[in-house]
Amino acid sequence: MRGTVEEKAVRVAAPAKINLILRVLDRRPDGYHNLWSVMQTVALEDELRLRVRHDTAGVALRCDDATLPTDHRNLVYRAAALAVERAGLNVGLEIKLMKRIPYGAGLGGGSSDAAATILGLNRLLGLGWTVAHMAELGQQVGSDVPFFFFAPSALVTGRGEAVKSLRVAGERWVVLVAPGFPIETRWAYQRLSAARFGAPSLSGALQALEAREAVTWEDLLPLAENDFEEAVFPEYGVLRTIKTRLLSEGAEAALLSGSGSTVFGVFRDETTARQAQATMGRLERCRAYAVRVCTEALSCQSAPTTASLRVG
Ligand code: C5P
Repeated sequence: MRGTVEEKAVRVAAPAKINLILRVLDRRPDGYHNLWSVMQTVALEDELRLRVRHDTAGVALRCDDATLPTDHRNLVYRAAALAVERAGLNVGLEIKLMKRIPYGAGLGGGSSDAAATILGLNRLLGLGWTVAHMAELGQQVGSDVPFFFFAPSALVTGRGEAVKSLRVAGERWVVLVAPGFPIETRWAYQRLSAARFGAPSLSGALQALEAREAVTWEDLLPLAENDFEEAVFPEYGVLRTIKTRLLSEGAEAALLSGSGSTVFGVFRDETTARQAQATMGRLERCRAYAVRVCTEALSCQSAPTTASLRVG
């Protein structure tokens, strides 16, 4: 039954994303840009634990990273408040966020956390929401949120709300290199707009991808590109250096993710990826992660109700 509390606590893993292709197209009347992106989740994950409380109302968010806000400035808080309001329920929520994904890094960590929150509450509160409904709710929290309901791989267009799952056959490893400073998305869009003359167009090869349900890594990697590189690299030369180093370490493709600041390389096997991780991690201020690309959708697990929510 809708609105029935079916479970007392759930745990959801929130994976990072990379953009294998990111074209930024025209600016829309609402101020946002139309995008054309192939997005992919990777196994660097935040973790969320959600618990219902019937004795209080409101959202109580705790995070193991004290530098992050835990009020309405946090996308988890906003997603939870919106979901409870939309469900028309008067319940309290306790949420614990364990942060692993660097932020301001183009890895969609906050957006993934928001999607995981909505998914977790759908299960916890027995709401029976469809993926389309959850994605619509997520879009109100941020442009990258809807994608995570269609993960592990999807073609994303419009402002980020038009998402179509894509099957990517085969496995790959990814080395993520976070340079130790964030880049603000809004700034990157402004930079890109200022540097451009005329409307960008989509190549025939990308248009042809729209009709495909399944592709291989061999299909995708020659098409890897990110429009933000031309806006961001002139300001942050170290990112271009990281890209070049990843390629010389054997990456099949290396690219800025989202509007940065992370640069990633795609590798055919774990051994080469781990070697590259070790080398890249020695660069000043950089943190490097070697992770598999995800092959599964986001999912919830039941969690023990009390011990799991203690602040550790
Ligand atoms: O939706 P979100 O809050 O993630 O977007 C952050 C900023 O990025 C927006 O305020 C806008 O300036 C820019 N943006 C854009 N077009 C998009 C997504 C984001 O211009 N499709």
